[in-house]
Amino acid sequence: NNLYDINEHNHLTIGGVDALELAQNFGTPLIVYDVARIKQQLQAFQTAFAQQNIDYAVSYASKAFAAIAMYQVVNQAGAHIDVVSGGELYTALQAGFPMDKVSFHGNNKTPAELLLAVKQHVGVIILDNFYEIELLNQILQENQTKIKVMLRITPGVTAHTHQYDQTGQEDSKFGFDVRSRQATRALKMVLANSRMDLIGIHAHIGSQILEVEGFELEVQALMQIIKDWSQQYDYQPQVLNLGGGFGIRYTAQDQIIEPGVFVKAIVQAVKRSASKYQLSIPAIWIEPGRSIVGAAGYSLYTIGSRKDVPGLQSYVNVDGGMGDNIRPALYQADYEAILARNPQAAAVETVHLAGRYCESGDILIDQQKLPASHPGDIVAVLATGAYGYSMASNYNRVPRPAVVFAEAGQSQLVIKRETYADLVSHDCFYQQKGGN
Ligand code: LLP
Repeated sequence: NNLYDINEHNHLTIGGVDALELAQNFGTPLIVYDVARIKQQLQAFQTAFAQQNIDYAVSYASKAFAAIAMYQVVNQAGAHIDVVSGGELYTALQAGFPMDKVSFHGNNKTPAELLLAVKQHVGVIILDNFYEIELLNQILQENQTKIKVMLRITPGVTAHTHQYDQTGQEDSKFGFDVRSRQATRALKMVLANSRMDLIGIHAHIGSQILEVEGFELEVQALMQIIKDWSQQYDYQPQVLNLGGGFGIRYTAQDQIIEPGVFVKAIVQAVKRSASKYQLSIPAIWIEPGRSIVGAAGYSLYTIGSRKDVPGLQSYVNVDGGMGDNIRPALYQADYEAILARNPQAAAVETVHLAGRYCESGDILIDQQKLPASHPGDIVAVLATGAYGYSMASNYNRVPRPAVVFAEAGQSQLVIKRETYADLVSHDCFYQQKGGN
């Protein structure tokens, strides 16, 4: 079973470290990443491109999980990153990430964020809308400088995934629409702007996509646009950025699609269109987020109370929940859990694995088969590495968990657990009218 590893004591291990030890040493809830798996995924995408003999960049979409330590790992792998906020950009700066390998995304970057990006000379800004073109132009003028840009385009491709996770359809809030010719208007504006160096076009069709067809359609749509633009405006982009969205296996029911399968399909599709339209082959950039960190992440919780509803189901309650993983509540996302002490013990019951937050919807796993479990047992929810910690909140004033990196039998704290003092550290006393 390659969903998880066990040691000679029959305990779950993560990066070669016993999960019970991790829980003991760092407390729960705890997010643990198997660093080797992160590196393997980055490398699998890179190797697949290299084998296709093509110019490429693998740009980790850091919204899936951003932290100084994560940016260090990505940098060591030689990959790029994309950031979507001043906060992610700042974190990358603190990590010493090379700014020329940063793409800056977002449908409403603020003037301050754009200024920071310009001053730090980020590799490329992905332009999303007309307001942003104006804003960036102003900032470039004031700072007497130039920057590389791409145009984000909505190609009219709808991915088969949760509706919140669809982004390529025409009525998306992101990017320039093609059909209404917004995209060509943006093209003309940017080509006429000597401070903006238009290196390519970008699209992103959605997330957790488990079929190659969506990406092939995306390639066809974008290559057709490139053909039109080269004929009508004599412009050919150097870079075709296809975004992210490569799906992963969350439960035994999901299939696994290896990075190489996605990459091969994409490259073949680009080559087919290029030869059909007699275009040169652009560099291909992708922005995988989930597929880099998703399966590498584990959430460790301690089991506490339990409620059995006679004749109905039982709730087994853990010390975390929607505050550290909102995905089940927000997207009805499915996960699978195991007992860290003996993952392979035979299941004796099916329970709701419930969180500790004050909301009925705080159920991490709706139907989880479990062996006999007791208060104090450590349960591990698998494949929580993407959009778990990065979407965590302090709902109910619960401190956010710690994050640990485990590799080659060693573990290291990379994000400290929040304390109660942290929770009130931004609070200010209100000077009440009339005393106190
Ligand atoms: N590039 C762009 C422009 C994106 O908008 C996204 C994700 C990615 C790359 C990375 O996509 P990935 O490879 O991770 O699928 N919170 C949601 C996912 C939101 C994805 C938003 N954009 C979830 O938990 O499912």
